[in-house]
Amino acid sequence: MTWRASVVTLFPEMFPGPLGQSLAGKGLRDGRWAIDTLDIRGFATDRHRTVDDTPFGGGAGMVMRPDVVDAALAAADAAGPDRPAVYLTPRGRPLDQALVRDLAAGPGVVLLCGRYEGVDQRVIEARGLMEVSIGDYVLSGGEPAALVLLDACIRLLPGVMGAAESAAEESHANGLLEYPHYTRPADWQGRAVPPVLLSGHHAEVAKWRQTEAERATRERRPDLWAKHVTHDAAPGAMDGRPAAD
Ligand SMILES: C[S@@+](CC[C@H](N)C(=O)[O-])C[C@H]1O[C@@H](n2cnc3c(N)ncnc32)[C@H](O)[C@@H]1O
Repeated sequence: MTWRASVVTLFPEMFPGPLGQSLAGKGLRDGRWAIDTLDIRGFATDRHRTVDDTPFGGGAGMVMRPDVVDAALAAADAAGPDRPAVYLTPRGRPLDQALVRDLAAGPGVVLLCGRYEGVDQRVIEARGLMEVSIGDYVLSGGEPAALVLLDACIRLLPGVMGAAESAAEESHANGLLEYPHYTRPADWQGRAVPPVLLSGHHAEVAKWRQTEAERATRERRPDLWAKHVTHDAAPGAMDGRPAAD
């Protein structure tokens, strides 16, 4: 069955946007995934097609109305089989590769993109939306965040990535950052490629790559390294690599 994304947004013209290009675009044309958008404004009930209102309790900005957002989400639900519904928000759990893998393995996703100060909390609770953040910074709307989440999922769908872009070794696949890459020329501006990569010894290359992946993770992401070490030490860590989480 085709993996289907339904995006609930005030800016439907932002989709598929960059996802219409490159491998994701080819996957879309090949029917590996599909996307539809629901324009939240189309679910407003008044003459002015109002989607927001002032916050109870006062303060700056506007809040998206629960009744209008709920109607749009109901229509999105009808567009595909039982799919998880995600509200993109800086208040959410951080997006990581484990969540991306889970979402990519399912039938698809419904994505709610906020604007203004965000969405009335009651519709988030009533619909049991999963709240997901793409990082500790604030965007002006959920659309770029939805594109990020979709890109990460789509590249994992069967038939989207070519063999050359294997996901097996890349950063976060096994809890480590990836090793560095080199290509021709072997000497560039006086900088030589690490000799082991020219040696033709596959086992030595694999060992070097593992060491460099561990070094990069230890130096750049102590948080990931701590998890990696904990997993390795855990009973049942059979092959010396942590279970990706
Ligand atoms: C200006 S932001 C609202 C920020 C909100 N008032 C807060 O402080 O948490 C408008 C919308 O952008 C989206 N957004 C902003 N930053 C995001 C992030 N880091 N991850 C996911 N979505 C984000 C959300 O959909 C949000 O409702």
